[in-house]
Amino acid sequence: MSYLVKNYNRKKISFVKGKGSYLYSTNGKKYLDFCGGIAVLSLGHANPELIKTLTTQAKKVWHVSNAFIIPEGEELAKKLVKKTFADKVIFQNSGLEATEAAMKAAKKYFHSIGKPHKNRILCISGSFHGRSLATIYASGSKKMTEGFLPKIPGFDHVKFKDTKPRFPNLRKKIKRTTAAIMVETILGEGGIKPIPDKCLRYLRKICNEKKILLILDEVQSGIGRSGDFLAFEKSKIFPDICPIAKGIGGGFPMGAVLMTNKVAKAMQPGSHGSTFGGNQLAMKVGSKVMDIISKKSFLKNVKKNSNYFLNKLNKLKNKFPKIIKEIRGRGFLIGLQLYQDQSKFIEKLMDNKLLTIRAAENTVRILPPLNVKKNEIDQALRIIDKVCADFK
Ligand SMILES: Cc1ncc(COP(=O)(O)O)c(C=O)c1O
Repeated sequence: MSYLVKNYNRKKISFVKGKGSYLYSTNGKKYLDFCGGIAVLSLGHANPELIKTLTTQAKKVWHVSNAFIIPEGEELAKKLVKKTFADKVIFQNSGLEATEAAMKAAKKYFHSIGKPHKNRILCISGSFHGRSLATIYASGSKKMTEGFLPKIPGFDHVKFKDTKPRFPNLRKKIKRTTAAIMVETILGEGGIKPIPDKCLRYLRKICNEKKILLILDEVQSGIGRSGDFLAFEKSKIFPDICPIAKGIGGGFPMGAVLMTNKVAKAMQPGSHGSTFGGNQLAMKVGSKVMDIISKKSFLKNVKKNSNYFLNKLNKLKNKFPKIIKEIRGRGFLIGLQLYQDQSKFIEKLMDNKLLTIRAAENTVRILPPLNVKKNEIDQALRIIDKVCADFK
């Protein structure tokens, strides 16, 4: 008997300990964790540097509120600004808070320049930006919005197709009232679909032409997961606003919105806030994650090891062409798309001690820690090979 609301379909397993890429269950079994807390555990479980940072800070001060200057937050904001396109940062506690704050910043920007009628956000239908009332309507997915009337207004949708044109009728979807286009650089929940660089450049071009803002949601794809610090870097364009979360805390709940000065100027005192956002514990852990990921060799290794993994997965796709339809993704944000529903496959992987998680379109999402070792990747490959061989 559980006293928790049944809003999740939980697997019947719990864990007592984690170390690096492994989790240890209550019944004494060892699992290779390539679910990674859904792209949260950027540095694996129980990272000694993060433990030291967290416990040291815990003995000093945990939380004071944003009524005061928080030097630990100033320090992390500086690191994020130095590493990215951003001029300014707002700290939050989660991904949805970051995407909500991103949308608020876009609306407030147009309000501040005397164009309050520009307040609609154009999103990809079936994308994922969180589970608040606003973000479920941003996604436009019926499954998420069902039962949550009245509809939150202010969203328009465009399709993102596998075939060309990738964004059909995009220009027509932009109205006089559109403030911003908001998309995930790599659609995560939607089935691990990277938006090609060319399309990102097209989005930037249209936003410039129409004088609207571009929000790139890097909650799942950011903080090194794609092999670049932020996944859009490869395309050589920049957004105006970028929500991040998940990997920046390495398991400590936090989120942030990166933005240009132009947008940040609109967010004056009273425009937005959060009791917990940016507290000392989160800021110290985030800062340490940044230090580790910013080391020269770190992202080079992510690229090298993830390319190795992706190449080997493509070989498995060729070996099992009736089971695996496509290997998708970039870096360690990987989707293994099957021809049939993936639930049984994920269960079999788990029976063989490999943890993964689902995404849309029959996709098995594979999210190792960014510092995963090559022998751990090989172990995962052996398990996937075995499950494919046995799969009916
Ligand atoms: C792209 C994207 N945006 C926003 C969110 C929402 O983040 P959170 O679950 O922390 O609210 C997620 C979560 O999976 C996500 O993948």
